[in-house]
Amino acid sequence: MGPPADYEIDLPQSFQSASDVPIGTAVDSYKLKNNQTYRDLVIYHFDSIVGEWQMKWNILQPERGQFNWEQADYLMDFAEENNISVHGHCLVWHGANPDWIESFSGGKEEFQTILKTHIQTVVNHFEGKVDSWDVVNEAFEGKKYRRNKFYRILGPDYIKNCYKWAHEADPNIDLYYNDYSLASNPEKLDFILEKLDSLLNEEIPIHGIGFQSHITLNSPTLTEIKEAMTKVENLGLKIRISELDVSLNRDGKYGVFTDELAELQKNRYKQVVEAYLNSSQVKGITVWGVSDAHSWIPTHFNDPDWPLLFDGKYKPKPAAQGFLEALVGFSNE
Ligand code: G3I
Repeated sequence: MGPPADYEIDLPQSFQSASDVPIGTAVDSYKLKNNQTYRDLVIYHFDSIVGEWQMKWNILQPERGQFNWEQADYLMDFAEENNISVHGHCLVWHGANPDWIESFSGGKEEFQTILKTHIQTVVNHFEGKVDSWDVVNEAFEGKKYRRNKFYRILGPDYIKNCYKWAHEADPNIDLYYNDYSLASNPEKLDFILEKLDSLLNEEIPIHGIGFQSHITLNSPTLTEIKEAMTKVENLGLKIRISELDVSLNRDGKYGVFTDELAELQKNRYKQVVEAYLNSSQVKGITVWGVSDAHSWIPTHFNDPDWPLLFDGKYKPKPAAQGFLEALVGFSNE
């Protein structure tokens, strides 16, 4: 099990200063407002942000026709004040539907109008402030469409319509499809790419794929990452590493974060970032949170974990050192 990890890391420079592509983090608007250490760390290290929850349907339109922009607009103001770019996440996702969407019992035409109105109202609201959007998130499960509310009422065509509507609302931004396990599950990726290729042939405006990258120390392998990215590149699509974190304790074996885990995680972050940056199509790398104290992983998997670059006291971990070394190494090439 080993003792708690003990490390003093001084990062010689910020992540954003070491990278040719935007380096982002998922942020919480309340922590930006109320925690100066958190806020200063985001401003120093990152030149891109994504709202961890603020721009999802359940927050933006919690009741039909009632839009609540407060938390998301705070992110826009913060980003503008600090010359930080914003990636929008996410317009359509089964994981953040308000009750009135999940309980909808009307007809297809009405639901189509509801979906189009949400997408175009939101994209219009953030026009000029958001550089890119995850339009549809996690629409597939393995080798099949996820039977989310939109699929069940509108059929698979809801996906292409979402991208058409978003593009109509703002033709100047990149529209991404975002999902998880794309490198570790080649069958899922192949199924998705087959569907997206058909949409591209119909000239549906899909510009890139977000690899969420909620990874562990051993999965996906570097070969799987490289093979998956090559498949996406071959479709001419851009790539965002959209939600990177490296879990250490998915099987609940560890009770504390040890020096051994810290070193393994440092090497893993360094190796995967090098693999990502080897792809000319990678347009940004975003970690899914600032500090281990706020990661979704321990709550979701109900075990302690230390998946991010900074610890619960916002101290850089060895993982931050490995992450920076990969960025520096690549930008010096
Ligand atoms: O909704 C409240 C909001 O009303 C309140 O003002 C705010 C202040 O504390 O909290 C919000 O609470 C929770 C929010 O996280 C902040 O902690 C929401 O109830 C909760 O649902 C939300 O969970 C987020 C989840 O997506 C659902 O949106 C997680 O933080 C976020 O890490 C997780 O991220 C997802 C990606 O979007 C898609 N990929 C998987 C990833 C992990 O599940």
